This record gives sequence, structure tokens and C-alpha cells, in this order.
Amino acid sequence: MEYKEILEEARKLTAPHCMACPVCNGKACGNNVPGPGSKAPGNAAARNFDKWQEIFVNMDTLCENVVDPDISFELFGRKFSAPIFVAPLGAVDMHYGPKYNDQSYNADMMKAAVDCGILAFTGDGVNAQIMKDAVTDSAALGGLSIPTIKPWDRETVFGKLDHVIENNIFAAAMDVDAAGLPFLKKLGGSAGSKTVAEMREIIEHASRPFIVKGIMTVAGAKKAVEAGAAGIVVSNHGGRVQGGVPATAEVLGEIADAVKGQTVIFVDGGIRSGVDVFRALALGADAVLVGRPFATMLYGAGEEGFKVLYNKLTSELKGTMGMCGAASLKDITRDKIRF
Ligand SMILES: Cc1cc2nc3c(=O)[nH]c(=O)nc-3n(C[C@H](O)[C@H](O)[C@H](O)COP(=O)(O)O)c2cc1C
Repeated sequence: MEYKEILEEARKLTAPHCMACPVCNGKACGNNVPGPGSKAPGNAAARNFDKWQEIFVNMDTLCENVVDPDISFELFGRKFSAPIFVAPLGAVDMHYGPKYNDQSYNADMMKAAVDCGILAFTGDGVNAQIMKDAVTDSAALGGLSIPTIKPWDRETVFGKLDHVIENNIFAAAMDVDAAGLPFLKKLGGSAGSKTVAEMREIIEHASRPFIVKGIMTVAGAKKAVEAGAAGIVVSNHGGRVQGGVPATAEVLGEIADAVKGQTVIFVDGGIRSGVDVFRALALGADAVLVGRPFATMLYGAGEEGFKVLYNKLTSELKGTMGMCGAASLKDITRDKIRF
């Protein structure tokens, strides 16, 4: 199926919450929740998208001809086909429609990702079975996923991590910014924000590479490193946890200047093309996460849809590398972009 056809199929299943737009730029969904929109005033996802467009790539073809750039990416000792991963999305039946529930969505997403040589982060929810299923289904795929735990109280987090450990999953993550979600706020107690000491204890308990998702400041990035995070995701949760936040493209550069080389830097939010991936890497990210577009593709055409988007992103990335004289990911340096 063609990209456009897949969007049309998806739209039949996800409208009016998600209109499966030709470019997923956060404009049509605004603050649609349920739906993939942002928290009021509802412009954070759009700002994420827009800010990447303000970064320009520097063409330079007076160099050795780059025929087939190497986009393979090593993460925690394992090689992946591209520096592109799937962002975790939860409560998909509520936000997109009943074609999937979280269990079937995570299972199909993880398989499609592994088949393409990358991997998916999976979400967590109020129903404990969601993460349990994601972990058990991942074990059947060789543990190649990154379950992303919400910042529950200590006992709940440790219990969930024990299941990750038993199933020998590749890595784990926590979306610390989910402290802003209403259902977590209601829990009170020790669910919510984490101190460096609490995060360190969680990371030590995980006993595998641990990624802290939801970093938007240099101070936050330094604290994650201090706690022992093997990776951070520069992310504002697509604007779903707090209004009035900057775009990830606006903070990535300063965060990379502060912690590059000390932890793996991922970034998400509005990354929609291989040119955007190039922009993010040049600004200092090691890899990116793409969320909503992979969801739309899965709704529209299952694994076939996933592959269409994967092929589009990777071929655009390779094309941009060729035009900017970058033979491999390490050649995508900051001098290859301008503002
Ligand atoms: C419907 C929906 C559900 C989400 N659920 C989660 C979640 O469970 N855990 C998480 O860490 N992030 C969650 N996110 C945030 C995404 O992982 C990602 O950070 C955000 O969507 C930005 O990336 P994108 O613009 O490529 O979608 C969710 C986002 C959406 C739109």
C-alpha cells in the first residue's frame, strides 16, 4: 500500500480523535484528549514539529561520493539498523480507536520494529496487566524492547522491574514526566517526581541499561546522569503533561553540550522525516524516537504500514546524508546545520 492510502485507512478508524493528517504536525488534533493532542492550550505538539523546520541542513557535495551511507546504530552493545526507535504510546484504544488495545498494539509494534532491525519502547498504564503483557510478549521476541514504567511508588516500580529482569529484557525506561498525568497525581504519596537518590535506587534495581524519558533542561539531564541513567530522552511527552513548554528542538542543543558522551541522548517530539532525524542528530542527539506517525501507520495497515514509514524515514535520512557529505552517523555534526 502507498503512504497516502494507509493514512486514508487509518483515518476511517481514528477520526475524529486523530485525523491521520498527511503530515502529523499537531495542528488538527490541537488539544484533543482523548486523542493524540496536547494539554491546553494545545500547541506544544505543533511547536515541536515547527521548530525542527527552522533548522536548515547545509548541502555540500564537493566530497567523496556517498553512495550508501551507513545508518546502523549501536546501542548498549547491540547493533540496530537505524538510529530511529518507536516512542511508547499508551491507552491507544481511548486515543485512537478500538482496532487495538494496549496489549495488541504493543505486541504488533514490537514485532514490526524488530523485523525492521530497530525496537519499540512500550507504555505502562493504570492496569498493571498492560506492562506485564508487553514484557512477556517481548520475551518471545528476544527481549528486544524498552518497557517504559510510569513513576509509581517504589514498591510498584520494583515489582514491575522484577518482571523485566525475570524476562531478561534488553533495557528499561521511566517516563518521569508522567508525574504530570492526572491519574498519577491522584495517587499522591511517593508516586510522581523522583529525587536523584530515588532514581539511582530504581536504576540499580533494574540492573540493565536504564533510560530516563522526559528530560527538558540541562539540570534535569545532569541529575539523570548523576543517578546513573544509561540514556535520556529529551521529550516533553508531546505536550501531554504540561502546557507552555518549549519544543524539544529548542533545548536539545544545550542538553547535548552538557551531557554528550556521558549518556545516550534520544530526542522525540514532531520528528516526521529523515531530514528531521538528520537535524536532531546534528544538534547532538544520538538517536530519535518517533511516536504518533508509527501509531497511524499501524492503525492503517499493520506491519505493512510500519514498514512503509520505516523505509520513508531511513531513505530520507540516507538521502540527506548523501547531500551533506556524511558517510556515517558520526559525520552528522553541528556544522552540517544552520538556523
Ligand atoms: C496517545 C499518546 C499516548 C502516549 N503514551 C505515553 C506513555 O504511555 N508513555 C510515555 O512515555 N509516553 C507516552 N506518550 C508520549 C510519546 O512517547 C512521545 O513522547 C510523544 O508523542 C512525542 O513524540 P511524537 O511527536 O513523535 O509523537 C504518549 C503520546 C501520545 C500521543
